Amino acid sequence: MNGFSLDEPLLTFAENNTWTVRNAVEGVQIFGGIGSGKTSGSGYTLAKKYLQMGFGGLVLTVKSDEYMANWYHYAETCGRLDDIIHIRPGGEYRFNFLNYELTRSGAGTGLVDNLVNTLKTVIRAGQDARSTNGDAFWDDALDMLLFNVIDLCYLAYGSAFNLDQLFAVAESLPKDIDRLKENSAREQNPFYQVYLKARKATIAKVQQSKIAYEAETDEPYNQQGDRDWQKFSKIMYYFSNTYAELNPKTRSIIEHSFSGLLFRLNRDPIYSLLCSPEPNITPEMCLEGKIIVFDLPVKQFDKIGRDAQILFKYIWQRSMERRDITHNDRPVFLWADEAQNFLHEHDIDYQATARSSRICTVYLTQNLPNYYAHMGGREGEFRVKSFLGTMGTKIFHANADVDTNRYASELFGKAYLEDRSHTSAFSNDMNMSVTKSYRLEDLVRPEQFVRLKTGGDHNKKQVEAYIHKQGIPWIYYGDNNAPQVRNYWKLNFLQP
Ligand SMILES: Nc1ncnc2c1ncn2[C@@H]1O[C@H](COP(=O)(O)OP(=O)(O)OP(=O)(O)O)[C@@H](O)[C@H]1O
Ligand SMILES: [Mg+2]
Repeated sequence: MNGFSLDEPLLTFAENNTWTVRNAVEGVQIFGGIGSGKTSGSGYTLAKKYLQMGFGGLVLTVKSDEYMANWYHYAETCGRLDDIIHIRPGGEYRFNFLNYELTRSGAGTGLVDNLVNTLKTVIRAGQDARSTNGDAFWDDALDMLLFNVIDLCYLAYGSAFNLDQLFAVAESLPKDIDRLKENSAREQNPFYQVYLKARKATIAKVQQSKIAYEAETDEPYNQQGDRDWQKFSKIMYYFSNTYAELNPKTRSIIEHSFSGLLFRLNRDPIYSLLCSPEPNITPEMCLEGKIIVFDLPVKQFDKIGRDAQILFKYIWQRSMERRDITHNDRPVFLWADEAQNFLHEHDIDYQATARSSRICTVYLTQNLPNYYAHMGGREGEFRVKSFLGTMGTKIFHANADVDTNRYASELFGKAYLEDRSHTSAFSNDMNMSVTKSYRLEDLVRPEQFVRLKTGGDHNKKQVEAYIHKQGIPWIYYGDNNAPQVRNYWKLNFLQP
């Protein structure tokens, strides 16, 4: 479906001053203290616009009532209930991420690489960033473990393995593979069984290559040089040497991270929702206008809900990036209230290209320290700032957080403002003179954010906020009706 214009206004502030689909695909970050009106003010207004415009999307959830109180209601108001895919325990919609990643078509189909990247992203997002941040060794060790386990399963089962099989292998990794070969208990060891299967499958492949080669060339085949055999040998070398010789502490951290995630994914309700043998949804459905609401709120499902949603978010982001907008230019949105819960290490790169894939990201959070805490503490400040730099629009609601208010004020900039000083001179006759001078001042001072209206009946449902966008400024008629340009605007949102 084509025909979505980037110039279509979504918000109109004054004549010729609009905020358009083009701004939406550059990403929106909404800040505001608790109860400042993020969800029911700017959030509600944007969500309704996106739905009215026919966008598809993915919604991640933290609070338990997010689906019923917000999205069900928004979709009903906008006549979009039929487009909602409500993912919830015991519901009708199911996905299979292993199957999707190992069999999907399209560019960038590295099969095993896809799956490794996805699992690694979820593991790292759940890690305390400070514990492993910048530790390249830990990172490489985790990478190698993931690649070798998944490669081994892939050799044994092709793309048809399931999470139970992967989990069983991860749980039975040998500390000493040579002893395992002699051990009478090996028949019960899942790792050993997969090893045998992979070996058998590899030998069969080598045999096929040998027959084909010798029929063609009449020369003996060099089995040691066979690519499949080499791959299998490398995996076995890893398990009998590299992995076995890892420092026990590193080995226990990476094993724990990997099997911990698989353990969480391998239990219901996640297993039925994300590892279903009968999947009936794909991320691509959003390109046809479906709105996937992932109703596994973090407040209720905790780490499991978070892992599941980050996993789906990452798969969804990559899927949307692969889209061809010359055939289908429908914008899709990625919506995360309390977004700090769902950040992962690729968000910055992803956000940098989201515009060309027509992805309208909307992240809501209280303040900057919320993001710092999820991106490596204070040291993560530059990462948070560079991430925010990739969001074209920022909306600031009432806030008592000093960092966020200062950040907003600096973003809006300074200008030379008239400073009228009254000077009184005391002598026999008191006289007062007014001197006019110009001072460089904040256009919006940090403390002005503290006083913005936060909605509720006592504010007649009015929620105030400042919006700031990058790029072409808006025109504003200030004192004396003289036109001025500026990149921010003070807005009033009405709660439902
Ligand atoms: N439809 C409504 N009509 C009147 N008041 C409302 C409505 N929706 C929310 N409120 C009130 O308005 C205030 C702002 O609510 P809102 O939930 O939008 O804040 P928020 O910034 O999203 O907060 P939080 O960080 O806790 O999610 C709250 O006091 C809330 O009780
Ligand atoms: Mg809220």
